[in-house]
Amino acid sequence: MSRIPSLSVFAVLPLVLLLACSTPNGQPPKGSEPVAPNQIVDFGTLYAQNCAGCHGAEGRGGASIALANPVYLAIVDENAVHNVVANGVRGTSMPAFAQSAGGLLTEEQINVITSGMFSRWERKGILDGTNPPSYAAKTTGDAARGQIAFGTYCASCHGTEGQGGSKASALSNDSFLALVSDQGLRTIVMTGRPDLRAPDWRGNVPGKPMSDQEITDVVAWLASRRVQSPGQPYSASNYARHLDK
Ligand code: HEC
Ligand code: HEC
Repeated sequence: MSRIPSLSVFAVLPLVLLLACSTPNGQPPKGSEPVAPNQIVDFGTLYAQNCAGCHGAEGRGGASIALANPVYLAIVDENAVHNVVANGVRGTSMPAFAQSAGGLLTEEQINVITSGMFSRWERKGILDGTNPPSYAAKTTGDAARGQIAFGTYCASCHGTEGQGGSKASALSNDSFLALVSDQGLRTIVMTGRPDLRAPDWRGNVPGKPMSDQEITDVVAWLASRRVQSPGQPYSASNYARHLDK
């Protein structure tokens, strides 16, 4: 009997000490409350949580293009970027982020991301002295002319038919073409992928920048090589082999 009270003193003492350390009424200390996801308006946090997985940390590129590409930011305008972030790009893995489109970001958060991309990563004057192509195609492209332009500007790295070469990967791959939009192709041709050493529209043939029409035509030719059922023949033969085992 007499041992029980002395034991409980030792049991209670740490608790008393703990309580003495915390703030009054057991409230969490200032600044430790988690911020509700829709209240976050810090560019770095929003970008890291929503975009970095595909566009790379600090916009440096990953599975998808680098957004911290000053050539891209000099050609595209903020409205176009806002629209893509809000509504996504249909048929590709670029998600829609606006709540109105089923996403989780508020209008304010999309504005923070869009304007932050420009204020952080834009480099004024980067296109000085050059006549940049327009962000969106102005005309319908001509696939036949595009094939000729491909031979001039792209074949040296991507192979004569876009089958891939020693310097760059295949572009006529049906799965690749199925997962990229026409604007996505145009964007890469115009802005390159500096993260992967792909040249912009001025650098394919040194001293010979592509014209706006040539860019449009090359995209039309690549687009014309899309197939009805990408990824087919489904690995039926593989499947049969799998059953044999
Ligand atoms: C799941 C992967 C994924 C995530 C996450 C993602 N993107 Fe994308 N994004 C893509 C892909 C793929 C494309 C190219 C789509 C195409 O083919 O046009 C793209 C395209 C874009 C473009 C348009 C490029 C152009 O052609 O003008 C912008 C701008 C963009 N993303 C911004 C963002 C921002 C900002 C975020 C975060 C809020 C984000 N993306 C999150 C995959 C992603
Ligand atoms: C000097 C070599 C070179 C030239 C010329 C060149 N590219 Fe590329 N391209 C690259 C490299 C390097 C990459 C990135 C790595 C890869 O995908 O092989 C790339 C990537 C691409 C991609 C993205 C592929 C992907 O998997 O995301 C597209 C689309 C592309 N190039 C289209 C073109 C087109 C169209 C032309 C001609 C107008 C062209 N390129 C000219 C080197 C080149």
